[in-house]
Amino acid sequence: MSGNYNKSYAKSISDPEAFWGDAAKQVQWVKPCDKVLDDSRPPFYRWFRGGELNTCYNAVDYHCETGRGDQLAIIYDSPVTNTKKTFTYNELKDVVARLAGVLKAQGVEKGDRVIIYMPMVAESVIGMLACARIGAVHSVVFGGFAAKELASRIDDAAPKVILSASCGIEPGKTIAYKPLLDEAIEIATEKPQKTLILQREQLPADMIEGRDIDWLEAISNAELADCVTVAATDPLYILYTSGTTGQPKGIVRDNGGHAVAMKWTMKNIYNIEPGKVYWAASDVGWVVGHSYICYGPLLNGNTTVIYEGKPVGTPDPGSFWRVIEEYNVEILFTAPTAFRAIRKEDPNGEYIKKHNLSSLKSLFFAGERCDSNTLDWAGEQLGVPVIDHWWQTETGWAIASNCLGIESFPIKPGSPTKAAPGYDVQVLDEDGEQVTNGDIGAIAIKLPLPPSSLATLWNAEDRYKSAYLDRYPGYYLTGDAGMKDEDDYLWIMSRIDDVINIAGHRFSTGAIEEVLSAHHSVAECAVFGVADSFKGELPMGLVVLKANETISVEDLQSELIAMVRERIGAVAAFKLVTQVKRLPKTRSGKILRNTMRQIADGKEWSMPATIDDPTILDEISEALQSLGYAQAK
Ligand code: COA
Ligand code: AMP
Repeated sequence: MSGNYNKSYAKSISDPEAFWGDAAKQVQWVKPCDKVLDDSRPPFYRWFRGGELNTCYNAVDYHCETGRGDQLAIIYDSPVTNTKKTFTYNELKDVVARLAGVLKAQGVEKGDRVIIYMPMVAESVIGMLACARIGAVHSVVFGGFAAKELASRIDDAAPKVILSASCGIEPGKTIAYKPLLDEAIEIATEKPQKTLILQREQLPADMIEGRDIDWLEAISNAELADCVTVAATDPLYILYTSGTTGQPKGIVRDNGGHAVAMKWTMKNIYNIEPGKVYWAASDVGWVVGHSYICYGPLLNGNTTVIYEGKPVGTPDPGSFWRVIEEYNVEILFTAPTAFRAIRKEDPNGEYIKKHNLSSLKSLFFAGERCDSNTLDWAGEQLGVPVIDHWWQTETGWAIASNCLGIESFPIKPGSPTKAAPGYDVQVLDEDGEQVTNGDIGAIAIKLPLPPSSLATLWNAEDRYKSAYLDRYPGYYLTGDAGMKDEDDYLWIMSRIDDVINIAGHRFSTGAIEEVLSAHHSVAECAVFGVADSFKGELPMGLVVLKANETISVEDLQSELIAMVRERIGAVAAFKLVTQVKRLPKTRSGKILRNTMRQIADGKEWSMPATIDDPTILDEISEALQSLGYAQAK
């Protein structure tokens, strides 16, 4: 503990160039930048203009050259396949350079896009690093997304090559990825030239001659490719995330700012030294996986754990403790929902007692609001600091956290503590004025955002501006509402848009509505999030049928549930849907989703002044009760 938060935070806001210029010294540059912060085109800011580097060099080769070659870089642990495998930094360099060679041989060059649609195997991280090595821009698509979601990302990113695997393994079932990939390519307009398929013995895939290449065969004959120098401002990756419409937003992250911020967070937020084991129990398909399974730990010379399993059921609620003990994990990072799953099966922590967890120094939660019960339970059971930190795909690292490497503050359960250095977080009212501490408002960040935050949206600068920058000129709109308290702790209360959070995963209610609207019997629909004690939120759908439709409610429900699974993916956990005669609207025709959500959650609600027909809400309440919601509390 260095007691330095105020000093560090103040410097980061008053002199961001000096602050991040200092942090940049921890990164290996081919050429240092000419300008730390390019503010010549507000509201667009760029970090480390003129700088040149290679992210893969910093994450892999540099460690081989500085004495970490024989240290483990990756531990792959897969209880669902009973497999364990490790890679030292030297071994990682070899496989990454080989895969980069394969990509090069397929014509992939600096700036070309490569989509990665893979399960939680080491090859997914190897794929990301191989792209970074040759300056290609990767876009990882979460393996649980259905073909149509994958297709929309293929069309937006227009990849030259797609990396995939024959299958993913979920508890008790094998998910054939290859048919989903084939279908997505069939639907997409921007067809990739080649796909590289990792054949897994659990379910090998049929290959399409001339297009599909066998991953392992290709790398065994590959020429090693060297690191290609890129500009700090060149994109490292695109990661699609849910917005308010069905069209996902392609968050663009650059090379220089990302490397500097990632490296800085490892010491200053997580307080972990190089050489130690860091485990983010998430998925490479989400931002947590990008930042803290792949890049952060590797840029810092840590060992990262790639875990292909679940918190429970693979085989029991003790898996996390086994992994911590077996590999001496120092920092564990996961979503609160994972701990709610464990607690449900092992409320008294019997499985925890069976393991020696002395290596564990702290636990970090993110991805969703952390309820105090879960936070307290984790702290009591593990006896280590439990840090709730708040961030988004857009920022790539914590906007608010207890920064353990700078100064550790007392924990207030339910709050992610204070704004991290680099983020001038303010709570604003409708007119853009700062509210008084204790009052709720929209949470915005004064520009410029710190390094690693999104540079723009892929091929959509106007959308970047309209979605994030136009609402409050000079600020970035986080999409979250909340408040600051008298000690400047932040409290993140809810979203102000139509994004919901299911088991730590972000989904757009608009995207689910698009699927429901496509059903031939549906005239209109509304989807909103309802509270769930396990997954945080679940999507609830209410549909109005077209005139003269005679489909039974049971058939309607099962068809709509199947459509969402088929078009978005099972991970959207869409199971709550029913029919209503009408939807409540304002006089100008806006559907009152928020009021319906409050009724469903049994919260106090007030009749919106602008509602066109208040009697509809009784019908809505009845429909919600038929699904077990809107109960009097
Ligand atoms: N590929 C294919 N299908 C997948 C998948 C993948 N990568 N991941 C999940 N699914 C499927 C599951 O099999 C399940 O299908 P089902 O409805 O047929 O059973 C469905 O999607 C929902 O999965 P999941 O969200 O994992 O819910 P669950 O009830 O099976 O497990 C948890 C609940 C809490 C254990 C799980 O959500 C979890 O581990 N969450 C951690 C969240 C996380 O890592 N967040 C990232 C931010 S830190
Ligand atoms: P994602 O981009 O998928 O990481 O989701 C980001 C969103 O998840 C944020 O905008 C918040 O709504 C929510 N979120 C993430 N972490 C937290 C947290 N610690 N507390 C409250 N909400 C969070």
